[in-house]
Amino acid sequence: MDKPISTVRVRVPAKINLHLGVGALGDDGYHRLTTVFQAVSLYDELTAEAAEPGVCELTMTGEGAQELPTDDRNLAVRAARLVSQRFAGGEPLGVRMTIKKAIPIAGGMAGGSADAAAALLACSVLWDLDADVAELTEVAAELGSDVPFSVLGGTAIGTGRGADVVPALSRGGLHWVLAISAGGLSTPAVYRRFDELEPAGCDLAMPTGLLNALAGGDPVAVAPHLRNDLTAAAVSLDPALQQTLDAGLEHGALAALVSGSGPTCAFLSRNEDDAVELAARLRADAVAGSVRRVKGPVPGARLLT
Ligand code: C5P
Repeated sequence: MDKPISTVRVRVPAKINLHLGVGALGDDGYHRLTTVFQAVSLYDELTAEAAEPGVCELTMTGEGAQELPTDDRNLAVRAARLVSQRFAGGEPLGVRMTIKKAIPIAGGMAGGSADAAAALLACSVLWDLDADVAELTEVAAELGSDVPFSVLGGTAIGTGRGADVVPALSRGGLHWVLAISAGGLSTPAVYRRFDELEPAGCDLAMPTGLLNALAGGDPVAVAPHLRNDLTAAAVSLDPALQQTLDAGLEHGALAALVSGSGPTCAFLSRNEDDAVELAARLRADAVAGSVRRVKGPVPGARLLT
């Protein structure tokens, strides 16, 4: 008989939204969205170890991780509990999780959702449960709007509140430079400001120009189609973001974008050399807390051997 697995490691990427069309606020407290997600090469890593039945513990390491709760308020803990409820038929199971964070906290890059996706996958493997990706994606939607995409990865279209995801064709890779703020922005606060600025919401048409450009694989063609309807709301809550966006464009980015609800800014470069150059200039300018170069698309939550 095979020895039971005692440790599982999962790597999960951050995301940016290449298109974030935000409609009006629905009765459920969520906005209707038409979004295009892309997973990028900035990863959190989750290690799950078998523990005594009923134990569900979490430790977090990495910059700012000590600010985060490690109890049931943490999405990764909620994800682990949900896996045992849904797929283990009430059998008491135990896990000790450690998350090494690199995705900025409250940065608009789905860091909390990524950790939840990692916990879903890690626990289903650790506990040897028979959950496939489709089932995990369904459970993921109960945890948060971005969690199904964090399971899937790649480039994908999200509709509804963002949790209904289908893969989109994206040829080649895009080179991004991220300007990561020292502080964070609260997603609900950004959406509330959006409601003040755009009470009727923005248009939810499918971004066919962007999807065609992504399928073509030319970043110069992609650049003019990038759009985020939360930009004005994020900038109004954190006015320094406008300087960051302007600095990226002055230093040669093809396009500048607030990532999700911000405050991380993403700049598209023509190629790797341009991205290296842009990152160096942004670092010299010290416009953001830190600057990272990433590529997209990359796969979603994956087991590490
Ligand atoms: O789904 P999730 O818990 O990640 O969403 C966090 C918050 O973002 C929600 O409580 C809501 O305020 C806002 N949100 C929204 N419309 C969406 C997704 C998120 O208003 N489609």
